[in-house]
Amino acid sequence: MKEAEIKNIYKKKINELKKHNKFYFENSNPEISDKEYDEIKKEILNLEKRFSYLKNNSSPSISLGFTPSKKFIKSTHRVKMLSLSNAFDIEDLKNFEKKIFNYLNEKIEVEYSVEPKIDGISASLTYKDSVLVLGASRGDGSTGEVITENLKTIKDIPQKIKSKDFPKDIDIRGEVFIKKQDFNRLKNDFANPRNAASGSLRQKNPEETKKIPLNFVAYTYGYFKNDKIKKQSEFLNLLQKWGFKINEHNKVLSKIKDLKNFHEKFEKDRFNLEYDVDGLVYKINNLELQKRLGFTANSPRWAIAHKFSADSAYSKITDINIQVGRTGALTPVARINPVNIGGVVVSNATLHNEDEIIRKDIRIGDTVKIERAGDVIPHVILVDLKKRDKKLKKFVFPNNCPSCGSETIKEFNKTTKKHDAVRRCTNEGYECEKIAIEKIKHFISKDAMNIDGLGKKVVENFWDLNLIRFPQDIYNLDYNKISNLEGWGDLSVSNLKYSIDQSKKVSLDKFLYAIGIRHIGIENAKLLAEHVKSIKNFIILVNKKKLNEFLDIDGIGETQINSLKTFFENKSNYKIIEKLSSILNISDLKLNKDGKLLNNTFMFTGKLSNMSRAEAKSLIEENSGSVVSSINKKLKYLIIGDKPTTRKVQQAKELGIKILSQKEWISLLD
Ligand code: IVH
Repeated sequence: MKEAEIKNIYKKKINELKKHNKFYFENSNPEISDKEYDEIKKEILNLEKRFSYLKNNSSPSISLGFTPSKKFIKSTHRVKMLSLSNAFDIEDLKNFEKKIFNYLNEKIEVEYSVEPKIDGISASLTYKDSVLVLGASRGDGSTGEVITENLKTIKDIPQKIKSKDFPKDIDIRGEVFIKKQDFNRLKNDFANPRNAASGSLRQKNPEETKKIPLNFVAYTYGYFKNDKIKKQSEFLNLLQKWGFKINEHNKVLSKIKDLKNFHEKFEKDRFNLEYDVDGLVYKINNLELQKRLGFTANSPRWAIAHKFSADSAYSKITDINIQVGRTGALTPVARINPVNIGGVVVSNATLHNEDEIIRKDIRIGDTVKIERAGDVIPHVILVDLKKRDKKLKKFVFPNNCPSCGSETIKEFNKTTKKHDAVRRCTNEGYECEKIAIEKIKHFISKDAMNIDGLGKKVVENFWDLNLIRFPQDIYNLDYNKISNLEGWGDLSVSNLKYSIDQSKKVSLDKFLYAIGIRHIGIENAKLLAEHVKSIKNFIILVNKKKLNEFLDIDGIGETQINSLKTFFENKSNYKIIEKLSSILNISDLKLNKDGKLLNNTFMFTGKLSNMSRAEAKSLIEENSGSVVSSINKKLKYLIIGDKPTTRKVQQAKELGIKILSQKEWISLLD
């Protein structure tokens, strides 16, 4: 396209945006949805990114007030605002604790800080030299919206701290919420108190925020160089001393049994509280332990949210469809007469798997109780047998994949010695249409190749039009054909092309995650990438059938190896990787390059005390070192734990590799 043409398109988009700004901000009466608005904004930003001559001082991305989400400027959180994983019953809690013990490689008595989980909006407050200098929303966890002025209208948020011991530079984090009683007045404008708090906080004019009474409780920190405070409960008390409100029901408990008892009691009493609480948060109280445990991709290992039972309603099942997922899992979904559950209209509910249908004897035509908890997919709790029509037949789960007709199986789990509850299509590649579409959707998703111009709906559309069959087809699209399709213009085609081109540069771990091997999530993909270092090495290992080598990696076990093997036994999967590796620019993992252990390689043998291999490995990597799994000349240190393998020690001695005890190794870090 010529420059003049592009400028013209750009101008039109800007005018469109201005028009909607006016509807939204001045008339408080938007004509389009938030999503459509964000689309226009994204198109403008993409154009500016590509054609630098478009940027000018009145560009909406520069002028204050324009924003990631309509009206606020963005700010990157110094420490990410993550979410919490959920527990619904005592089994989930036991599992949570078990994982902690595994990670630490020791069983200890853990103390928990127990805090009510208020259902509001989280916010991060940055204080420098005791003055509130920035207030931000959670946003996507990495970047939030700057809402300082709005937050300043909340009386519970101190703007200046008087205490002498308040840290010089700290982010205080907590929940902004509205009390039930205040929400009653706003019932007609918002679906629930949470939406009311969010709506109020995100008013363009802080005077509007002031009109809706918001509250704030503080519960954690983001950025903070802490060397004195030892416990979360101690931190909560300090927060109160510094002038923040903290929850009056916070307490410290130790055993899972006590957590469960407190949860049961609190769940019954919560209706008397002035605000909505959707569960309890349990955090390991010892901050040193929290630090050791660290985070998985989305949530801390040291905390969990124990949810209360959800809202529920009765409705009738009109049909049961079987969905085929990316890994071939067949998930039955009940289509139900639409029903309002806790402010959300629900028309589908998951039935989880075949066993669940059998156990609950769920039939098409049944009246069922459906539960919905937060953002969790609604599910069927029970069948109201009194309402069952005698003529209803038992539901027969298909024996063959409804998409490709392949045989389906329930795998045998060697560890639990039981058959899996989930039935799966045996097709591992792209021969099953539904699996193929889901694989491509996974390939483009945010944590994978992150091709944001190509959404899930577009993938389905392109599939129907025979434009895509395999991931590599994305890089060979016929843009002329696309620009003639309904709903596609020059600009959207050019944006699509741009985001596809951008995705060509990808890190090895993201790529390994993107190809969608079962049991290889983000974390495992990282482990594989760190091990092989380059896509070339990865392909060599596959070719030489040396996938067992991955067994040396902590965190990779038989399950993952078997899954990798099955994946590559399918020739189409192998071909796809070969093709993609020639199209893409797959870079190695970015390593932290300023730690004390840079250029040092380590290997472990024997059991470490008070620490799992996974923790030891992340400690080395945090300090820029690397961990290898076999003894060779590149190895610098062999770290010896309890009962080391004599052969390894011998080999290391022969090669002149330095041998360290766990204590000596730790002292290298000091
Ligand atoms: S701790 C990484 N403590 O729950 C630690 N969160 O799903 C996460 N929340 O976004 C925050 N009460 O909005 C924490 N006492 C509490 C909380 C709490 C409510 C919310 C918060 C967060 C979400 C996590």
